Amino acid sequence: MSKILILNGPNLNLLGQREPEIYGRETLEDIEALCVERAARHGLEIAFTQSNHEGVLIDHIQAADCQAMILNAGALTHSSVALLDAVRALDVPVIEVHLSNPYARESYRHHSYISPVVRGVICGFGSQSYLLAMDAVAKMISQATPSST
Ligand code: DQA
Repeated sequence: MSKILILNGPNLNLLGQREPEIYGRETLEDIEALCVERAARHGLEIAFTQSNHEGVLIDHIQAADCQAMILNAGALTHSSVALLDAVRALDVPVIEVHLSNPYARESYRHHSYISPVVRGVICGFGSQSYLLAMDAVAKMISQATPSST
């Protein structure tokens, strides 16, 4: 079964209470549950994790044993060359996701260090951003693994 790592960066543990007018009322646990359900539908296995620490996120990326990664790097998206390097060194497809649409927000959120090295970016759909990324990953994996029939 193909494994997908879903990695969440700083402050995403506060979802539900943090700026709900921007990020919604769902908690990270709610989003994980939605992803688990969607993974089951696609026959995928997921590991879902969050850290507030750049180095811990990089350790997760370096240790990743997965066929694809979904990454919401939070504010590190806009600041971290170290995360960029870690993602660049991976040889599996990465999809960058955001709950909000950073391009419709403050100008310092308009630049992503991650976007140039990922397969695609999905933003602005709340928790649906993760589910759309799961659908895209499932499609990529099924295209890369021809069925035996
Ligand atoms: C975010 C967008 C980032 O700009 C912000 O710093 C976050 C969350 C999102 O999911 O919308 O922490 O990645």
